[in-house]
Amino acid sequence: IRFPTGMGELDRVLGGGAVQGSLVLVGGAPGIGKSTLMLQICGKLSENAKILYVSGEESPRQLKLRADRLGVQSDNLYVLSETCLGDVLESVEEEKPDVLIVDSIQTLYQDSLESPAGSVAQVRACTLELMQLAKEGNVTVFVIGHVNKDGFIAGPKVLEHMVDCVLYFEGEQHMAYRILRAAKNRFGATNEIGVFEMSEHGLVEVANPSAAMLAGHPQGASGNCIACVMEGSRPLLAEVQALAAKTQFGVPRRTAAGVDYNRMVLLLAILEKRCGLFLSSSDVYVNVVGGMRLDEPAVDLPMLLAIASSFRDKPLPEGVMSFGEVGLTGELRSVNHLSERLSEVHRLGFETCIIPKQRKDQIRAPQGLALIEACNIAEA
Ligand code: TYD
Ligand code: MG
Repeated sequence: IRFPTGMGELDRVLGGGAVQGSLVLVGGAPGIGKSTLMLQICGKLSENAKILYVSGEESPRQLKLRADRLGVQSDNLYVLSETCLGDVLESVEEEKPDVLIVDSIQTLYQDSLESPAGSVAQVRACTLELMQLAKEGNVTVFVIGHVNKDGFIAGPKVLEHMVDCVLYFEGEQHMAYRILRAAKNRFGATNEIGVFEMSEHGLVEVANPSAAMLAGHPQGASGNCIACVMEGSRPLLAEVQALAAKTQFGVPRRTAAGVDYNRMVLLLAILEKRCGLFLSSSDVYVNVVGGMRLDEPAVDLPMLLAIASSFRDKPLPEGVMSFGEVGLTGELRSVNHLSERLSEVHRLGFETCIIPKQRKDQIRAPQGLALIEACNIAEA
C-alpha cells in the first residue's frame, strides 16, 4: 500500500509515494535540509496518519519553533526528544504511530552495546531494530543519516544494504537548489530525481527545474553553452560554463565543478588533437550553474563548445544549445531519448540545437526548432 507524502518531488523519487511498512533512509551532509524535509512532510501526512517525530538533535521547543516557521501544525504529530532506542520503542508501543521519523540515526544508542552513539556497531544495531519495527509493526519509518564529505564513517553507506530505500539529499549548502536522488529502492526505480529550492519558509518543490537552472543565463557572453541531460525519465536543461585563461605559471590549472574532471581533461585533449585548439598553455575552469552534477555523456558536446567558445572568446549565437557524446576520434555519438530532449529544448524557447548526426528515420524535431547535425567536433 502506497500513500502520498504531500511532496510531489519526494513521491516521484520514492516511486509514487511511500510504501507502508517500509524503512526509508534519508542521507545527506549536515545542514542540507533533511530535518526540514521530514518536518514538512509531517504536515500533509498527519492528515491521515499518526506521526511520531523522534529527535536526538533538537529539543521539542526548537522543533516547535521550526514547525511553526514551516507552517506545520497538527494534533496528530507527536514529538519526542530521546536518544535511547529502548525508550523510543517503548513510546512507539504506547502511541502506536503509523509513521515514525528518527532524526538522526547517529544520535540513537542501544544500552546493551558498549560503543558510543554514532559508531558503526550502534548505527547498525539501531537500524536493524527499526527495520524489525517497520516489518512487524507495519510502521513506516523514515531515518535520517548524516554523511560527512570525507569517509562516510558510520554514515548511511554502512546501512544501505539493510534498508528498503536510500535517498540522498545533495547540493551545495550555499546554493539554493537541492537534489533528492534514490541510491536504492526496493519499490521503484532509482534514476528519478526530485528538485527543491531552500527558501525562507522551508523547501519548495521546483516543478520546472530547467527554467530554474537557466534563470540568469548571460546573453552574448563567451564560454557558455546550454546542455540537455536526462535525469531519470525527465529531461533537464542546465548551463555549462567554461573559462580558458592564459596560464600564469608553468603547469596549466584545470578545475571541474558539476562535471567529471577526467572527462573534461579528455575533452581538452580531443579539442587539441582533433581541432587544433592549443589549450596546453591555458588554465581551464568548467562549472555547471546551479550546483547540479551532470554525469551523462550527453554533456560532452556542450562542455566542449563552452570551452572552445571561451578559448576563442566568441559567444555561441543566441538561442543555440546542444547535447551529444564525443568519441576519442572527435566523432559525435548520438544519445538516447532524443525526442524527449528536443521537446524540452523547444518548450524552453530554444531555436537551434546542435546534435550528433542521426540516422534519417530517427528525427522528429518539434515545429520551430532547427536541428544542426554534425558528424564530428570540427563540424559542430
Ligand atoms: P536542516 O533541515 O536543519 O538540515 P539537516 O537536518 O540536513 O542538517 O536545514 C538546515 C539549513 O536549512 C540551515 O542552514 C538553514 C536552512 N533553512 C532555510 O533556509 N529555511 C528554512 O525554512 C529552514 C527550516 C532551514
Ligand atoms: Mg537535522
